[in-house]
Amino acid sequence: MAHLWDNVRLFQPRFPSMSDTPRKILITSALPYANGSIHLGHLVEYIQTDIWARFQKLRGNECYYVCADDAHGTPIMLRARAEGIEPEELIARVWQEHTEDFAGFHIGFDNYHSTHSPENQACANLIYERNRDAGHIVRKTIHQAYDPEAEMFLPDRFIKGTCPKCGAEDQYGDNCEACGATYAPTELKNPRSAVSGATPVERESEHLFFRLSDFEDELKQWHQAGHVQAEMANKLDEWFEAGLADWDISRDAPYFGFEIPDAPGKYFYVWLDAPIGYMASFRNLCDKSGIDFDAFWGADSGAELYHFIGKDIIYFHALFWPTMLAGAGFRMPTAVWAHGFLTVDGAKMSKSRGTFIKASTYLKHLNPEYLRYYFAAKLSSRIDDLDLNLEDFAQRVNSDLVGKVVNIASRCAGFINKRFGGQLSADCAEPELYAEFVAAGDAIAEQFEQREYGRAVREIMALADRANQYIDEKKPWVIAKEEGQEQALQDICSVGINLFRVLVGYLKPVLPAMAEQVEAFLAIDAMSWDSQTAPLTRHAINKFKPLMTRVEKERISAMIEDSKEDLAAEEKATSAGKAKQQATIEPIADAITFDDFARLDLRIARIARAEAVEGADKLLRLTLDLGGETRNVFAGIKSAYAPQDLEGRLTVMVANLTPRKMRFGVSEGMVLAAGPGGEDLFILSPDKGAQPGMRVK
Ligand code: MSP
Ligand code: ZN
Repeated sequence: MAHLWDNVRLFQPRFPSMSDTPRKILITSALPYANGSIHLGHLVEYIQTDIWARFQKLRGNECYYVCADDAHGTPIMLRARAEGIEPEELIARVWQEHTEDFAGFHIGFDNYHSTHSPENQACANLIYERNRDAGHIVRKTIHQAYDPEAEMFLPDRFIKGTCPKCGAEDQYGDNCEACGATYAPTELKNPRSAVSGATPVERESEHLFFRLSDFEDELKQWHQAGHVQAEMANKLDEWFEAGLADWDISRDAPYFGFEIPDAPGKYFYVWLDAPIGYMASFRNLCDKSGIDFDAFWGADSGAELYHFIGKDIIYFHALFWPTMLAGAGFRMPTAVWAHGFLTVDGAKMSKSRGTFIKASTYLKHLNPEYLRYYFAAKLSSRIDDLDLNLEDFAQRVNSDLVGKVVNIASRCAGFINKRFGGQLSADCAEPELYAEFVAAGDAIAEQFEQREYGRAVREIMALADRANQYIDEKKPWVIAKEEGQEQALQDICSVGINLFRVLVGYLKPVLPAMAEQVEAFLAIDAMSWDSQTAPLTRHAINKFKPLMTRVEKERISAMIEDSKEDLAAEEKATSAGKAKQQATIEPIADAITFDDFARLDLRIARIARAEAVEGADKLLRLTLDLGGETRNVFAGIKSAYAPQDLEGRLTVMVANLTPRKMRFGVSEGMVLAAGPGGEDLFILSPDKGAQPGMRVK
């Protein structure tokens, strides 16, 4: 049924100017899971959010940026078990690691907490109890896969087996990586538990459900009122059309999480208490620093609340989270803003190619502000994916930051330091040019406000060009050699330094560390957004030290190499972990005879062509050359390989498999690959000298 608000954007966030009273703003980034390292993909989000938070603070707003580790759930419980430690020990170690990685990238959280905290337990219980008392929680008995050996219920991801559609082995319980089919875990053939290897049995259990549909009208209204991006609103409409099902918020023991107050042995599902972690981290900050919690979370709060998230978790943030809040009498978010995913050199980050780069690995080789700048230059308010092209990265940072911005200071500072004892002129010689730079600030601020960082950066670089052009025209290096031109030289260089100062002020949300160095160099107080309205005159600056060096290609290559090593180290760690975890499982002996083996026709094949298959997330279409004969094969290796990297390579294929009709065409064989799947999949290559068509024996 159509509602009045379907076509109306009732709410438009208002962005008051500087003369208004400071806004109260609470900002969050999604909470990273406590069982993995921070990588460059995550950093798209934390850098995007940090720039916005720093910008709001520079504008004089009362702004807080909080986050936390997302510490609960089955994967974390099992990871700890595999390492032979308690989950508490694992999450404490990862918290430390994450905190250091974020600090390394100048992510300026006002608080970084954990969902495994007393504040979060209290907030989760409160939100649950209020929703329950208002009648939004129901109990239902469901049937679920149970691992009799590990004595636990299994999430879909922890059940593996043979795809019911295409027969591919070793597929997850929810979808097949080979043919792209989705299904229920009960449909898998030969299902096994990924935890113990045992065959799962079906068991029933009582679960608690949140009745999302109670809030359908409220949610629709909220979506239509401009609290989410337009692209997101469309996606949400599709979900509404599909109907809002009750949401299962409980899990059975053993589970690492919070026990539900009135349901012993049942735990809150990790996605229930994860977003509540935003609130809990802020609560923890309030308790430490005396901020008024209710002023930000109360139902009629005038404060603004923004959640920055990745596009993969929209459902949780735009459906579940606002509903939980509304049902418990808290305010709803001012906006949920999703960003796209990071690719590196045009492909999904890949461990084997060394483009799955951890934050800590990056920091060993490169300046964090290079990446902050590069991401800023490419970010917009849209949900589009974002590519880190390593060539372009080096070139852009070198030409913009080193070649344009820092260059202004290095062209002028030497003369001021050497010839004028560091003293800037008594008057600004170019008041109009200076005023132009100051006036540009409003438009740049508006771009930051709207999360159009790419546009803000372009405007700032246009100003940097303008400043360099001024210096080119005035040629201080020529004037420096002429008699009686002392005043002119000091004036030109002072103008240059002043323009530089304004630019660095605009870049400060993006480059906080460089801005701090510049403040020391210019001997000025910490800059705010509007502290550069008047030029520095009759002011002594300090000696100029290089502010940023060029990106060296060798450092990038070293980082890629190092990332391949990370992979090796990780594989060692997890296989040791797996061995520990699976020590009690009998090896599955399924012997074949030599004759069985001899029936396999394995051939060397040259990958003549590789291309993506429209409508299939995991598949590549390979044209294999067997030395005269060609075969069409669909291989589920898209997550591990970019098509162009495969073309021309030799590999090994099974050539006498019965052709199989798939949704996209007929597959005439299989290529051999090793590894657990996803990005970690490695196709086999023959040794030198092998030729297409040769038989493998
Ligand atoms: N723990 C959940 C979030 C709970 S929020 C209440 C989670 N954690 S995560 O570690 O997988 O991801 C954290 C954030 O990083 C998410 O917003 C996710 O979208 C983002 N990214 C993770 N990988 C990413 C890329 N490759 N590219 C861009 N963002 C990525 O989800
Ligand atoms: Zn399949």
